[in-house]
This record gives sequence, C-alpha cells and structure tokens, in this order.
Amino acid sequence: MLARAGLMGGCDLDTGRPDPEPVAIVVFGASGDLAHRKVIPALWDLFAGGGLHPESRIIGVARRAFSDSAFRQELRDSVAKRARTALTEPGWKDFEAKLSYLQGDLDQAATYAELARRLEAPGQAANRLFYLAVSPDQFGPVAEGLAAAGLGSADREAREGEAYRRLVVEKPFGRDRQSARELSRRLNACFAERDIFRIDHYLGKETVQNLLYLRFANSIFEPLWNRQYIERVEIDVLETGGIGSRGGYYDHAGASRDMIQNHLIQLLCLSLMEPPPSLDPEAIRDEKVKVLKSIPSYSPGDFLARSRRAQYLAGTGAGGEAIPDYHAEAKVDSASRTETFAALRLEVDNWRFAGVPVILRTGKALDRQASEIRVIFRRPPETLFAGLCADRLPTNVIVIRIQPEEGIWLDINTKEPGRASLAPKSLRFSYREGEGGALPEAYERLLADAFQGDSTLFIRADEAEEAWRIVDGLEAAWSSPEAPAPVRYPAGSSPDLDVLRLDRP
Ligand code: BG6
Repeated sequence: MLARAGLMGGCDLDTGRPDPEPVAIVVFGASGDLAHRKVIPALWDLFAGGGLHPESRIIGVARRAFSDSAFRQELRDSVAKRARTALTEPGWKDFEAKLSYLQGDLDQAATYAELARRLEAPGQAANRLFYLAVSPDQFGPVAEGLAAAGLGSADREAREGEAYRRLVVEKPFGRDRQSARELSRRLNACFAERDIFRIDHYLGKETVQNLLYLRFANSIFEPLWNRQYIERVEIDVLETGGIGSRGGYYDHAGASRDMIQNHLIQLLCLSLMEPPPSLDPEAIRDEKVKVLKSIPSYSPGDFLARSRRAQYLAGTGAGGEAIPDYHAEAKVDSASRTETFAALRLEVDNWRFAGVPVILRTGKALDRQASEIRVIFRRPPETLFAGLCADRLPTNVIVIRIQPEEGIWLDINTKEPGRASLAPKSLRFSYREGEGGALPEAYERLLADAFQGDSTLFIRADEAEEAWRIVDGLEAAWSSPEAPAPVRYPAGSSPDLDVLRLDRP
C-alpha cells in the first residue's frame, strides 16, 4: 500500500484507494428498523461526502406495500433524524432520484426474478451490493433466492476489472457454532467467500480501528504489551437503555450472544493480537483467529467460576425514564433466565499473555453508558515508591474510550507541587477536541469498505465460529443444573456482583 505525507505531517494510508465505482445497492428489509436507523442514513452520509458514485442506485426490498414516493418520504424522515450530514433540499432531490422500492415476499422466486429484471434495466450499474437488513432466519433464503435468479457469485471467478456481486450480512451470524457453520455453508453455495461481508459494526467505529494504529504505529506501547508488564485487561460495553421493543430477539440471545460473541470478543482480539505481517485483510484476520484459538475451551464448572450473570428489575434509567422489570418487557418469557448483564474472565493462553486475566463485562439498564478498554499495568518494584505507598500507589492504566468521549487516557503518577506526595493524573487525548466534530458513523465506513471490496473490518467465517466456541461453552455452563439463577439488579444501577474477584484465577 502506498502512503504519502498528510497535511498535518501525518501519513495518509487511503492514497491509492480507487474512486468509488457506480453500484446498484439492494437493501433487503428496507422498511425495517436497521435500514431506517443505520443503513440509509449512512448511504446518505456517503453520498453527501462524495463516497457514492453519482450513477449508483438504491433499491429497497420489503414485503410492505409502498409507492416509490411514500418510500422516499419515509427515508427522508429517517435521514433528517439520523444522518450525520444535515439534509439539504438540493442534495435530497439528487439522492431520492436514486431510490426505488420493490415490494416482494422474500420467500418467493418471483421477487428475485423481478429484482433481476430491474437490475438489468438501462442505467443500472453492473456492480451489485446486496445488503441483508432482515431477520437472521432470512439470510439463507435471500442468498438462495438471489443465486437462483442468477444474481449470486459462487460460480464466478474474481477477475480484475469485472463487475462484483457482494453480500453484506448483519449479525447475529448463527446462534451457536454449529448454526454459524451451517449458515456459512449455505451462503458459500450462493456467494464466494471473498464476496461475503459479515458485519460487526464495532469494527467500523473510529476508536476501535484506532486500536491497531495505537499499538502498531507507536513504539512506546508494544514493548510493554505482554504478561510481564500487564496485570489485567478489562473490556466494558455498558449501556443505560433497556431492551426496549427487542424482546422477541433479545430473550433468545441475552448479553452473551448479543454482545460478547461479537463486539466484546472483537475488541479483545484487536487489543491482544500479535502484529500482523502486513495490513492485508487476511493477515489481520489471521492474527485475530490466532488469539481466539489461544482461549481455552473451559469446562462447564470452570465457566461458572469465571462468569457472572444478572437480569434487571424495574427501576429508573440513568436518564430518568422508567424501565420495566425485564420479565414484564414485551415478548419476554415471564420466567426467563436470560441475562441482561454478563461478566466473563478469559485468558489468552499464548506466550505473550498467558496468565493475564481479560475481563469482559456488558449489560443493559445500567447506571452508566461506557464502552472502553482498560489495560492495567503492574506496579513498579517495591524498592522505592511502591514499597512506601503499597496499595495507595495507583497502577498505570491505558484507557481506550470507544464511546462516549472517544479518546485515549493514560493514568500516571506524578509529584504534587510543593509536597512530597504522589498524585494520579491523566494524560488525555480526546478525538472530538482533536478532530473538532462528529466522527464518521461506523456504517458509513463499513459500506465504503464493502464497495471497495476491503474485508479488513468484516468477520471471516472461521472468526465467527471460534467466537461461538467460547460463547457456546458459556451458554452450556449457564444452562446446566448447577448454574445459579441470574442475580437481579434494579434498572439504572450496577449489578451487585463480585465481579472484581473475577480478575483472579
Ligand atoms: C448491537 C446490539 O449489536 O449493538 C444491541 O444488538 C446494542 O443490543 C448495540 O445496544 C450497541 O451498539 P452501539 O454502537 O450503540 O454501542
């Protein structure tokens, strides 16, 4: 990859990235929540920033009856509410001219035949991106419907300059290792693996991508990034909101399948992986898989000892809103044991990190909203300050804040002026102060990468399967007769669990 000096004396790695080509984007599930909240606003942001070729077109497919103009009006409202870039009249006029709607049943071959006909119409680009913003049970059928209509890519060679056909798949990718494997098999029968883009939107977040830059573009951290200097790593994705209207999905998933299998495990991989030999997507994904393979398959008893789970009771959310008892949420089983909070201690049993606890915590209806990675370093030798201050000497911590207040903090000890006294201080880098405004949305970045065929920030089939291996073990332990019921915590609080004890093997 070629790079050049940037304006601020940095180095621009995007140089050499080709300009966007025209593409026909087909959004399945176009009337649904995900399309409205994320996919269409991200396409608008790309369009507004020049990241969408002017000849690109967007076809929404869903079962509901809509005229093109009613569809456009609905999307306009979503864009006005959700997009990063403000909606302007001339801009919207241009954008809406690219939008059309196809009403169809996703189980019917006629839907795909009609889609194929529209894609062949004059003015449509030869490149195609199929976005599956549908429920997971439809991933297989839609891919198969596309392939049967001649729109798949499994039987096509990748040739330089030839039009592409790509499939973007949302999470959850399976509900365990076996079903993920089966889903990959079904998708691979319709699309070549190089054309399948499994989304984990955390990888599109700027601060998550920055993990690799921080670790491998600096020489001061990497020598310390091992079991000799690191005492433990904590990865938190804490949310204040309850499950809202997602009970039907969430009650069958819980925090482990909804968050640990994907977002938290991805953060773990990027925090602890070895430097890849290059920035090539496969090189990076190979290193992530190696991290996952170094996490042992613990026994059920071991999983119970190294995990905690909890479920919220009625309470007042951090924003003052009333949150019902989890059991009273719509479409939740009134005797459900599904966890809305989970904590898990893992070890990456390789040469570099053996014995270093990695604690994952995630939950809903908590007292604070924070996604962050904390790398906690060991105390210095006891000869000087550590000997005198013992536990009162704070340890050095690098906090990588993913959201909110995106940035990096380094906690150090300093002398207090005028006194022989130690005080902890933070060196802080804030993204928003530095860049002066809103960061690009994760979906915008991921869509732009999918257009370019860059799969670095997408999940490879073996990554998904290895992550499921860990979550399958945890789920099996939690469904064993020995497993204690989830502890219950009032919404808007922090579950009173002995989570800290998890940091000790
Ligand atoms: C989704 C989960 O993948 O990520 C949600 O299904 C969760 O339950 C969301 O709320 C969190 O994403 P973000 O970007 O808001 O941190």
